[in-house]
Formats: sequence, C-alpha cells, structure tokens
Amino acid sequence: MSSYNIVFLPLNKKVKVKSGISLLEAASQAGIIINSVCGGDGICGRCKMIVKRGKVNSRTSALLTREEIRNGVVLACAAYVESDVVVEIPGETLAEEKIVVDQDAQRFRALRSGITQRQFAKSPLVFKIFLKLDRPTLENNLADSQRIQRMIEKRAGISAIQTGLKILQQLPVVLRKNDFAVTAVVGRRRDIAELIDIEGGDTADRNYAAVVDVGTTTVVVHLIDVVKMTTIDAQACFNSQVVYGREVTSRIIAGEKKGAAVLQEKIIADINQLISALVLRNEISLKDITFVVCAGNAIMTHFLLGLPADNIRRNPYIAASIEPSPFRAAEVGIKINPR
Ligand code: FES
Repeated sequence: MSSYNIVFLPLNKKVKVKSGISLLEAASQAGIIINSVCGGDGICGRCKMIVKRGKVNSRTSALLTREEIRNGVVLACAAYVESDVVVEIPGETLAEEKIVVDQDAQRFRALRSGITQRQFAKSPLVFKIFLKLDRPTLENNLADSQRIQRMIEKRAGISAIQTGLKILQQLPVVLRKNDFAVTAVVGRRRDIAELIDIEGGDTADRNYAAVVDVGTTTVVVHLIDVVKMTTIDAQACFNSQVVYGREVTSRIIAGEKKGAAVLQEKIIADINQLISALVLRNEISLKDITFVVCAGNAIMTHFLLGLPADNIRRNPYIAASIEPSPFRAAEVGIKINPR
C-alpha cells in the first residue's frame, strides 16, 4: 500500500500516512486535535478543511455549500487521501480547549479546607529492596530462589512470594555476577507478592511510577518518585480518541463498529507519548518506571484495557469489569519496565 505526505497549514505539521486514510485520522496521527463532535460520522460539519494541493476522494455532503466545494472545502472525516496533500485547517475546526495539567489538583486544593484529610499508608504497588545475601556453602545450600525469597519475606514482612520463570532463569547469573548483592523488585497483586525483576547492585533509590488521569478530553500523566513519594513532573495531552467523537457514546459506537482495539490503541499511544516525554525531560530510564496507576470513568477504563464497552450503554447497563486486577503494563501496551 502506498503512503503519502500530508502537510497541515497553518501549523505546518507534517505526517506520512497510508493511502485511503481520512484527513481526520491523518490529523490525529499528526497530533492535531480537531472539533470532530460526531466522531467522524459526517453529520456535525465541524471538521471542515481546505485542500490546497493534492487529491482526496471526498464524499459529497449537504453540510457544504457550493461555494465551499468550489474553494476546496471538504469534511475531513469524509475525505480520503489519494496523493501527497497540503491542507489548511480553519481556526474554528481546531479544538480550542487548553490543557491545564494541574486542574483537578487545583480543585481539590480549593476544597481542602472543608474536607477531612486522610493519611494513606505508603504501600506502593511495586517496591525495591537491596539485599546482601549470604554466599552459598556446603552447609548453607539453599537454592538461589529460596535464598532470595526468604530474605525478601523477612525484610518486607511478606508471608509468601512467587517468582516467574523468566526471573528464575536469570537469577543464578545475576546473583553470581554481582557477588550476591542485588536489588529485588517486588510487585503486589492484591495479597500475592511477586519477584518481578532482579537488578545487580543497589538500585533501590531508582523507583518511579506513572499515575495517569484518563479523561475523556485530556490525559494527564504524573511522574512519581516512589522512594520519596513525591510528584516530580507532569505532562498532558488531548485524548486522541476524540477522532471517534467528543462524547463517550460516539466512541462506544465506534468501538462496536471497529472493535475495542482501535480505541485502546489511541489512548495507549497518548500515554506512551506522555511517559516518554517525562522520561526524556527527567533523564530517567523507562526500566525504572516500575508501575502505572490509571484512573478514569468506567468507559475510559474499558477503552484503556481494550474491553468491549457496548453493554454499558444498553439496558441493564453492565460493565465487563469495574474493579480490574493489576495487569502487566506490557499486556496493555504501556511501555515501562517490561516486567
Ligand atoms: Fe463530524 Fe466530520 S462531520 S467529524
């Protein structure tokens, strides 16, 4: 399939897209948020663009006047790319909202005087412990996995811990390469603890989390230093699912037609892009982000996990899950520590 270069004026944003893609989708791929109120159904007339150069296959619409058509105006959701194209986006077509990263925090701060503050125990989903293990001898001949698990149980007050095969395969080499001085990365899944990674030397001071507000309009990621329990940075973007409509109902319908994966891909791409911006700016490694916590309404969490949300909008309005378990970020597509 051939691909074409699209230039969006006056932003001068460029993107390479596959032939046949709509200008609305191309704008989304270029990171441009369009006023697509109907989610690309061709009925709101808010996504007008002017084709300056190149060829698009555009559906006729009663929402365009003859003069607009003569001047190259198309509905971006109904105009499909057939060559390299230069398009102009009129000001009213661009989404106008400004993202305020700290908006909810500001609202809570304003409320603070009137609410009772609760102290939460510091109990992160993933924690690290530096361990200096005894070297094995003929008298002390515990297996490597028992040796480390017992020490973690003792140090962290955990009654049982499991280790996946992948870590078990690495364990003998990492222990000996580092003279039995290693950092255990331990995750919690409800009541079960798991040794999810093993790192040579003392890396216990490098443990970060990404906390994500998955909003219908905006997505905000806060980068947390888990050791100090402080927010060190935050970054926001528009939720690019807007290409499927501003209202959640349009997005659910899009999910029914195209599959839950298309909505998941959009939100995961947004989160990954925000995390990589934070990682670059703060000069930390993706591997040191050991967990992600996401919050959103039921529809947004369904989209995030690629769950079908259809039944939520139909009597008797049943969710696939309102309390999903922790999953590996890699399973969901979020790029942090792969374990
Ligand atoms: Fe509504 Fe194009 S007409 S998004």
